[in-house]
Amino acid sequence: MNYKAFVFDAYGTLFDVHSVAQAIQKHFPNKGSQISEVWRSSQVHYFMVRQLIGGYVPFDELTRWALYDALSKNDVEPHEETISTLMKQYEHLSPFEEVRDLQKHYPHHNLTIFSNGTKSMLEPLLENNQLSHFFSLLSADEPKVYKPHREAYAYAQKQLNVGKEEILFFSSNPWDIAGATQFGFHTAWVNRQNQKWPELGIKPSYIIKDLNEIPE
Ligand code: LAC
Repeated sequence: MNYKAFVFDAYGTLFDVHSVAQAIQKHFPNKGSQISEVWRSSQVHYFMVRQLIGGYVPFDELTRWALYDALSKNDVEPHEETISTLMKQYEHLSPFEEVRDLQKHYPHHNLTIFSNGTKSMLEPLLENNQLSHFFSLLSADEPKVYKPHREAYAYAQKQLNVGKEEILFFSSNPWDIAGATQFGFHTAWVNRQNQKWPELGIKPSYIIKDLNEIPE
């Protein structure tokens, strides 16, 4: 297949959302990983619910609410100052180690990020990791429709101005791969933890162990 666009999910695919656990640990010793787990699961839950019930709320606001949730559920006091400090850390998440090699793997293509994150979150994250020049950026905050809704992928395809089947979309999140596949993109599930694909009645085009593996 001759793909014309290589598109990447950000949080969980290019950036390790749980790299924030170290910063959390400094405030709440021995609770870093469990707070990080609840933070991510609440964040995903919130945008799914908001997409279903309507009334778009930007990803940064949902991420702040999810952090508040994660702290409360782990019996720690969600002080505003701590929340602001940890939200800032979300702009310093670590990229997975193979991200910097992507341009080597796809030397003749512009690489694009398509994320539910707002540009106000994503731009500093790319800047802080010296990755701004690696990627063009598309945010669901433009159409104000969250992935995995089909209209989110329709927006990305319109911006890329290529056929659905000419797009290869990478994500580590099964809900994202399912949405993009259902819409008509070719998809590569980045399965770093060697998990079983969930029985969603939809299959990714490819399953790869990390971004060094080029889908054949
Ligand atoms: C992203 C996360 C939510 O869209 O998967 O970057």
